[in-house]
Amino acid sequence: MEANIKIQISHFTATFKPRYSFEKTCVSLSDITLNIYENEILSIIGPARSGKTTLLRSINRLNDIHENFFKTGDILLDKESVYHARVDVADIRRRVGFVFARPVVLPKSIWENICYGPKLKGISKKEELSQIVEESLKSAYLWDEVKNRLKDSALSLSGGQQQRLCIARTIALKPEVIMLDEPTSALDPISTSKIEDTLVELKSKYTIILVTNNTKQAARVGTKTAFFLMSKLIEYGNTEQIFTNPKEKQTEDYITGRFG
Ligand SMILES: Nc1ncnc2c1ncn2[C@@H]1O[C@H](COP(=O)(O)OP(=O)(O)O)[C@@H](O)[C@H]1O
Ligand SMILES: [Mg+2]
Repeated sequence: MEANIKIQISHFTATFKPRYSFEKTCVSLSDITLNIYENEILSIIGPARSGKTTLLRSINRLNDIHENFFKTGDILLDKESVYHARVDVADIRRRVGFVFARPVVLPKSIWENICYGPKLKGISKKEELSQIVEESLKSAYLWDEVKNRLKDSALSLSGGQQQRLCIARTIALKPEVIMLDEPTSALDPISTSKIEDTLVELKSKYTIILVTNNTKQAARVGTKTAFFLMSKLIEYGNTEQIFTNPKEKQTEDYITGRFG
């Protein structure tokens, strides 16, 4: 059974205009059309500077902070444009959570790291916050490791635990989509495999977009895989098809490690 479409990217082009006379216009995404389905993991692979991060940042409108960012085409979330003039950008960013390559934890307790966002949203009851902390940490498969030390500093956790804390913090805001940009690039293999297991579990509740520089990771966890090269979407399909029977020569060259 085909899942529901959660995000529809249509003819999306992203350009960074020159800020200084010596800079050139950079087309970071060129005419991208792609559907992203609910309860699936879309793995996005491709060499550096192919536009992967720009795509994620375009979906939750993080590129808006750059004055030289221009786009054409559209991105729909539940059939409504995230670029519509009446859209509340803060709401889009809550619905579409973002986990960065390196864990960015606050220099506060594990408990405070999870509660920070919900408190900003106005949740102040201790019982409610406790419940959010427990549920989010369980979803990120970190609860058993930290349940007896919630008051400890988040900085006392290992890199892999900090990254799962970042996932828990995203989950605490009750997102619909979770985007992760090379989330295991700074982690050892054991921590990496814990994150991968976590993502596979989370798939039943969320739409997940995983940008990864690790093609094996894409093959392990992705429901679908999209291959980007030089700002273009070269190939998209079921992960198994992409890795066993790619249609494009460039995809084959990349997944067999001939470039990248
Ligand atoms: N804020 C920006 N200003 C100018 N150019 C940018 C900006 N962000 C990204 N780019 C350019 O867009 C291209 C794609 O970058 P990016 O999306 O980060 O690729 P990837 O994540 O695949 O490595 C690169 O050439 C990069 O220099
Ligand atoms: Mg990137």
